[in-house]
Amino acid sequence: MNHLSALVSCSLLVVGAPALAQSSAAPASGANAQLKTADGKDVGTATLTQAPDGVRIAIALRGLPPGEHAFHVHAVGKCEAPGFTSAGPHFNPGNKKHGKLNPDGHHAGDMDDITIPANGNLSLTIVNKDITLDKGKPNSVFQAAGTALVVHAKEDDYKTDPAGNAGDRIACGVVTEGPAKTQ
Ligand code: CU
Ligand code: ZN
Repeated sequence: MNHLSALVSCSLLVVGAPALAQSSAAPASGANAQLKTADGKDVGTATLTQAPDGVRIAIALRGLPPGEHAFHVHAVGKCEAPGFTSAGPHFNPGNKKHGKLNPDGHHAGDMDDITIPANGNLSLTIVNKDITLDKGKPNSVFQAAGTALVVHAKEDDYKTDPAGNAGDRIACGVVTEGPAKTQ
């Protein structure tokens, strides 16, 4: 019995060690965006982490109007209220057209709509396979001009170039390098 429990704790140690090493050694592999509305209200965060198949974006939003909203990565890391046009067009390193339903699409910054429930709060994790946190790559979110995450007033039709007919930009957050925050 003693022998068995020694074996068990030994294997636990072995399993535990790499997990510890990974979390403490995590280099600059994370990014965040703090989203604000046109009137400066803080509406939550997005936490970006590198995943094998792309960038995982964990969003925790509050106080946004219920319904379906377009959600994109935009090509300039600048969120100037009230219109947020400073964030530029969709992030498009591949020089494509807008939308997953567009035969010439899509932009790397294109993502599926988010649906804000009646209480205005949404926690959701999505993966964007077309971007990376790897600096120096053309599709990295870390560009000289920066990048931003933008929520729109309306849903994305996934095909109208250049922006999916998604209406006003209602929330914006600059993608900023930093350790991934746990939500
Ligand atoms: Cu957008
Ligand atoms: Zn687009």
